[in-house]
Amino acid sequence: MKILVINGVNLNMLGQRETDMYGDLSLSDLENNIKSINFDADIDFFQSNSEEEIIEKIHAQKQDKYDFGVFNFGAHTHTNIAIRDAILSVKFKFYEVHISNVFAREEFRHVSFFSDIAEGCIVGLGLDGYEYAIRKILKEE
Ligand code: DQA
Repeated sequence: MKILVINGVNLNMLGQRETDMYGDLSLSDLENNIKSINFDADIDFFQSNSEEEIIEKIHAQKQDKYDFGVFNFGAHTHTNIAIRDAILSVKFKFYEVHISNVFAREEFRHVSFFSDIAEGCIVGLGLDGYEYAIRKILKEE
């Protein structure tokens, strides 16, 4: 099982941005924590603030042999049709993860361009959401 974890726009700022909302851990802390669990899977981490880079990473799914994705596109979640279309173009199966409870926040965050094409969504469970998503993939797939 090969899993791609994508963190989108502004998620490189974890541990520095709005720590009351997103916590004190950095993106590398998150990645190291997941790696230390030693899941029986190849797990790659990709972060970009660039829509183009994210789309190209998604398009390369078959070449890169990813079986499943765990995606948090940050603010692009609420706006981005191009990333949605990229996922549909390669039929990438994925879970959508959000660190914060987007439904308890501003109304514009209640809309996701991804939830209806995701296999499932984990919202508001902090950084643990990534771990839970991976556990679920390994249980089901
Ligand atoms: C987020 C929620 C988004 O609304 C926000 O723009 C983010 C992070 C989350 O993980 O809670 O950047 O995706």
